[in-house]
Amino acid sequence: MAGRPGPPRLGPLLLLSLWGSSAPAPLLRRLAEHIERFQEGSGPGLGFGPNALVPPKQGWLEQPLDPFNTSDQRSFLQRYWVNDQHWASRHGPVFLHLGGEGSLRPGSVTRGHPAALAPAWGALVIGLEHRFYGLSIPAGGLDVAQLRFLSSRHALADVASARLALGRLFNVSSSSPWICFGGSYAGSLAAWARLKFPHLIFASVASSAPVRAVLDFSEYNEVVSRSLTSAAVGGSPEVVMHSLGQRCLSFSRAETVAQLKVTESQVSGVGDRQWLYQTCTEFGFYVTCEDPSCPFSRVPALPSQLELCQQVFGLSTSSVAQAVTQTNSYYGGQTPGATQVLFINGDTDPWHALSVTQASGQSVSALLIPGASHCMDMAPERPSDSPSLRRGRQSISQQLQTWLGPAQRSQARGGD
Ligand SMILES: *[C@@H]1O[C@H](CO)[C@@H](O)[C@H](O)[C@H]1NC(C)=O
Ligand SMILES: *[C@@H]1O[C@H](CO)[C@@H](O)[C@H](O)[C@H]1NC(C)=O
Repeated sequence: MAGRPGPPRLGPLLLLSLWGSSAPAPLLRRLAEHIERFQEGSGPGLGFGPNALVPPKQGWLEQPLDPFNTSDQRSFLQRYWVNDQHWASRHGPVFLHLGGEGSLRPGSVTRGHPAALAPAWGALVIGLEHRFYGLSIPAGGLDVAQLRFLSSRHALADVASARLALGRLFNVSSSSPWICFGGSYAGSLAAWARLKFPHLIFASVASSAPVRAVLDFSEYNEVVSRSLTSAAVGGSPEVVMHSLGQRCLSFSRAETVAQLKVTESQVSGVGDRQWLYQTCTEFGFYVTCEDPSCPFSRVPALPSQLELCQQVFGLSTSSVAQAVTQTNSYYGGQTPGATQVLFINGDTDPWHALSVTQASGQSVSALLIPGASHCMDMAPERPSDSPSLRRGRQSISQQLQTWLGPAQRSQARGGD
């Protein structure tokens, strides 16, 4: 299917993830790499946009390791990137791009959206790396005692304290609206940041955000097989599977487990061990294919995937199932009840099955872009973009207008 022109379709990457190995971790991992590549553009180098005159600045915030225990004095350094070249005034908005399960590169504040939206709004763009990934790994590495401090709840506490600290550091006006952006798991974080901290985060744009945790993610393959056979994607399962089936068997189970047990930090790319830990303690997301109608035969069964949580972290299957239920109680699954969140999804992206695809009331908007794959709206614009993707991006701008227009007018009247 390489080189075929036409509408956007499932990337080979999405499919490869099905055959990649017996570990569940590589699934979102590959997607995260995919997103990074999208945002950075395809060229080599640091990925600064052609219009970027100055490279973004890197900074560090000292954050509490345990934000929920004030007697614990330990801290770690969290990395952030700043692009202030469009920032017109201290009353302007701040676009806070949240990192997910991988290192966050400078391109996160210079390429793709939200950087593309910044000039029109005179916005300050800040990218915040997720704790325990990239260079934001606490001293002491990734052993299980430390990983206790890795969860979406910890990450959200970091967002709240970063929002306050960075506001002071850059002398941002107290009336400036802060808007969170993120894609995939980080998209969920963006939505949840608005949900949990509406006094700090004015609105959020959540791209391809799987806000519902699920142990057995069999819908993944339902969407994939539907997409594979649809004309928009242009393919039949057998072609595709034949060519990809070859690649999958290079890792043995034992090798996978051994790799996942390594507790030294990897500073670049995606943290497989950390992300596996988050799937075992929060989200599940194990892609299965046990239904007879499922066209893929090499996906390991759920018990075998769950066994990894036991083998690598000593976590029982029942604790994983319980964690998934708790996550949905805590965040509300697909009905989070947040206001001023825009959920964007692509209909060929299997993750949309766990996201919000229908608007609810005035305050939660949802956009399902036909023919778009995972986080496609976040990529820099390209001449080859489909009309539906272009319309989708326009809707994001319009949504910002709806949110920020009134805030701007009230600032013009007063401000601080
Ligand atoms: C809070 O931190 C203190 C100091 O490190 C520690 O002794 C205590 O056990 C911690 N409490 C919890 C609930 O983790
Ligand atoms: C922050 O902005 C205000 C208003 O312009 C100004 O008075 C103040 O000196 C600034 N503070 C710093 C630290 O730059």
